Amino acid sequence: MENILVFGGKGGVGKSSISTATAVHLARKLPQKKILLVSFDIAHNLSDLFEKEIGNDITQITPNLFVIEPDPDLYALSYTGELTKKTRELFKSSKLMAMIPQLESIVEESLRSENLPLAMKNALFFQSIIDAENPMQGIGERKLRYIALNQSKETPLNERALLPKFDIMVCDFPPTGNMIALFEVPADPSRRLMKLTLKIISVLQDSLNKFKSITKWAQPAIWMAKHAINKEAKPSNPLDKEDQQNLAQNILDLLYEMEKRSDRIAALLKGIGSLRLVSIPEKPSFEEAKRAKILSEPFISVDVLHINRLIPPSEMGKTLYLDKILSSQEKYRQKIHKEFQDLKIWESHWLEDEPIGIDGLTRLAEEIYKDSSTFEILNPLNRYLKNPTTKQEKNPLNIEELRQKWRES
Ligand SMILES: Nc1ncnc2c1ncn2[C@@H]1O[C@H](COP(=O)(O)OP(=O)(O)OP(=O)(O)O)[C@@H](O)[C@H]1O
Ligand SMILES: [Mg+2]
Repeated sequence: MENILVFGGKGGVGKSSISTATAVHLARKLPQKKILLVSFDIAHNLSDLFEKEIGNDITQITPNLFVIEPDPDLYALSYTGELTKKTRELFKSSKLMAMIPQLESIVEESLRSENLPLAMKNALFFQSIIDAENPMQGIGERKLRYIALNQSKETPLNERALLPKFDIMVCDFPPTGNMIALFEVPADPSRRLMKLTLKIISVLQDSLNKFKSITKWAQPAIWMAKHAINKEAKPSNPLDKEDQQNLAQNILDLLYEMEKRSDRIAALLKGIGSLRLVSIPEKPSFEEAKRAKILSEPFISVDVLHINRLIPPSEMGKTLYLDKILSSQEKYRQKIHKEFQDLKIWESHWLEDEPIGIDGLTRLAEEIYKDSSTFEILNPLNRYLKNPTTKQEKNPLNIEELRQKWRES
């Protein structure tokens, strides 16, 4: 992966149209580069823009342009599946779990992928797809196969072609609040899962060893469960001490892998990610773009501001009503230029025909980028050349400390 372009901004300002037009334009101008366009909005509309059914399979639009409207549930499942399976096995080997059957359903519920927050699921997909070392690692063999130009949904999965490696990823993000959640979470899901898992494991472990030493927060739950305790019960998955420890070690290793991957992705986003904010020349979207810039800066380089849907000056003098809008647009246009003077600004007029289909999208891209080179589109501020190795340093998890804790328990 060489570039990750992310388009964000207020609802309805043209994020999907501009991100899609950009992907179409780059694919046409750079036939040697493989481009993947991904919609991260739950209200997917890439199918409408391409006038073609897309959905959860990576779908080939032109020889080098691929698109997907991912279903976050599926990716969360493939990402957390192994971890939850092993954690469940460990719980089932515990005598306490057998004594208090209600605990099992609590554990099952909290680790089920359907119960993860949507932002986290989307982020898991985002992680899977941009993972530097192995771009499709989390997705698994089934998802490695795609619907290409000469095959359809009816083509059996094992006969479908394999995915190529992508050079450029273009992302259509949801409006600002959810966009920030996507940036934040990639650094975070493993920690959240880890905290949850370790909390449950450690409570079970502690309570098995010594009822007195149960951490404070678990006491009410244990007190409530007291009546339900069946002292005769046997674990449904009895394991000897060594197997139990190996399994726990396995879980820790999995969590550690996830942690490393989160760090790698945060660094990748900082290194080759480029946020492009879209606004129309009106107060609400201008205000939102200002907010989005500040909130996103810790995660990704904010490079571009698109001013979209400007009324063409040829409309001036036609009606009083239009003139009023034109003058208000001009006021906000100037404010935007002043506020975002450190960013590259591209402007696009309100096109007469709705920009859909490859032709419509190409027209919009030409309206936006005019004679800008693809180099400029990909590197509008030339930042990557100046600082190609920017990395985010974070406190890695101390795995040795955790291993020690396990050995002691
Ligand atoms: N420059 C333009 N000229 C004409 N129509 C445009 C232009 N830009 C966007 N549109 C139209 O405006 C509408 C909203 O655009 P789009 O769906 O791209 O916005 P969005 O920011 O992705 O919205 P949402 O937040 O709902 O996802 C669409 O009907 C689109 O065709
Ligand atoms: Mg959209």
